[in-house]
Amino acid sequence: MQRVSLEKATSNKKLLPPNLQTNCQLTENLNSIQQRIRAACERAGRAPDSVTLLAVSKTHPPETIRAAADCGQVLFGENKIQEAKAKIPLCPGKCRWHFIGHLQSNKVRDAVELFQMIQSVDSLELAREINKRCEQAARKMPVLLEVNVAGEASKFGYPPEKLLAELQELNALPRIEIHGLMTVPPFVTDAEKARPHFRRLRELKERAEAVLGAPLPQLSMGMSGDFEVAIEEGATLVRIGTALFGPRRKSADRKAIEPGFEN
Ligand SMILES: Cc1ncc(COP(=O)(O)O)c(C=O)c1O
Repeated sequence: MQRVSLEKATSNKKLLPPNLQTNCQLTENLNSIQQRIRAACERAGRAPDSVTLLAVSKTHPPETIRAAADCGQVLFGENKIQEAKAKIPLCPGKCRWHFIGHLQSNKVRDAVELFQMIQSVDSLELAREINKRCEQAARKMPVLLEVNVAGEASKFGYPPEKLLAELQELNALPRIEIHGLMTVPPFVTDAEKARPHFRRLRELKERAEAVLGAPLPQLSMGMSGDFEVAIEEGATLVRIGTALFGPRRKSADRKAIEPGFEN
């Protein structure tokens, strides 16, 4: 495989990924998203600080994350352990990281080292592995349970009824702290079409709270195309990538400018 030096690649405009943004653009996007979050909260009669923005930084380089952190963004989401392992040590220490992708058992140990929250717990087996690794690391792990709200065959996540059936067992794991639910609903071009899925997650959260006899404060739902609807339906964490950073970088672009990038 032919490698291009970082210097050479970044001096060639054609090789620059289209989403390597100027700080100015990033500030503008961040302000606009925050403003839209506040407006959605207002429409829903909610406090503006009841929603936290998680910046989905997958595929984006540490420089982009540093620029976002300089603008005040603290919380970031990654979905691949290998990528996170290489990237997180190069990012400002004040950044906080949530894992939002499918987590394989053999990657749990790294996840426990790298992340402050795992948003994508989708089985008792995975939860037990996280519990075991946390015990070894002498820590606890805040988690969200990922729900496949529409029963899509292509997606990970708990079927709602299975989640309710396993909830007590999940909750009994001493190193796991269940903070709430997360979902990635079916892709739709009209955000309104996502509303019933968001509502279903909120209702499931209420049923889960009744089973546990305790509140679950977090509902992670809503992405670039539908986060305002998600907020109207009760989201407390919105996970936004494209609207903040622009299109995600493709492997070919990344290979050109990141020596060693092979994925
Ligand atoms: C779990 C999850 N949440 C949020 C996002 C962000 O999506 P968007 O770029 O549409 O904001 C992604 C992107 O792939 C994702 O995988």
